[in-house]
Amino acid sequence: MTQLTIAIAKGRLQAGALDLLTSAGLSFASETLTSRRLAVTDASGQYRLIFVKPADVPVYVEHGIADCGIVGRDVLLEFDPDLLQPMSLDIGVCRIVVAARNDAPPKQPGMLRVATKYPRIAARYFGARGVAVDLIELSGSVELASVLGLADCIVDLVETGKTLEENGLEVIDVIAESAARLVVNRSSYHMKAVVVGRFIKSLQDVLEGGER
Ligand code: PRP
Repeated sequence: MTQLTIAIAKGRLQAGALDLLTSAGLSFASETLTSRRLAVTDASGQYRLIFVKPADVPVYVEHGIADCGIVGRDVLLEFDPDLLQPMSLDIGVCRIVVAARNDAPPKQPGMLRVATKYPRIAARYFGARGVAVDLIELSGSVELASVLGLADCIVDLVETGKTLEENGLEVIDVIAESAARLVVNRSSYHMKAVVVGRFIKSLQDVLEGGER
């Protein structure tokens, strides 16, 4: 039997991705999913899930360790991996925005200081507008950089808007819409065409049927 390995982005997408896979017919014992195991196999033995940091999903799929992955468009825009992206999934819907304190002090002379987890997306956005920026790369809680004056603004994800609101920040501009995407390794797409095709079809059926 040909087994498919699917890399799942841990964190905000994980629960939605598991719901979607369950609706698509994959079956996992609940104790398996609540455990700390980083690789689990479904009841049929046809699918193995691995749980990795969002930014590592494209790495595992590009190297063929995973055949497929479920990861946010934000990560794909940032890293631009060489992967097939056959479909968008209706989970993890959010926006990549520029945000700043709603009581921001007047901008100091010099380069605009931008804090972000997405240095390439931010560089492209400001570069296209001819704005020189000093990019400050952080790995999380990016809003704090604006609140505490480390940066003039941030480039970050907004889902519900709660984090911005509760920290006194507002959206200045929307850079891109994001949602989870299915990504597929180019070689797996051909070498495992039947099982990959069946997997894609099962996801399409769920999304089209809205049966979740
Ligand atoms: C993301 C993002 C924002 C927050 C937005 O962070 O970077 O901080 O969620 O969500 P909201 O609009 O629903 O409030 P995440 O929780 O992924 O963790 P991080 O701070 O470690 O990046």
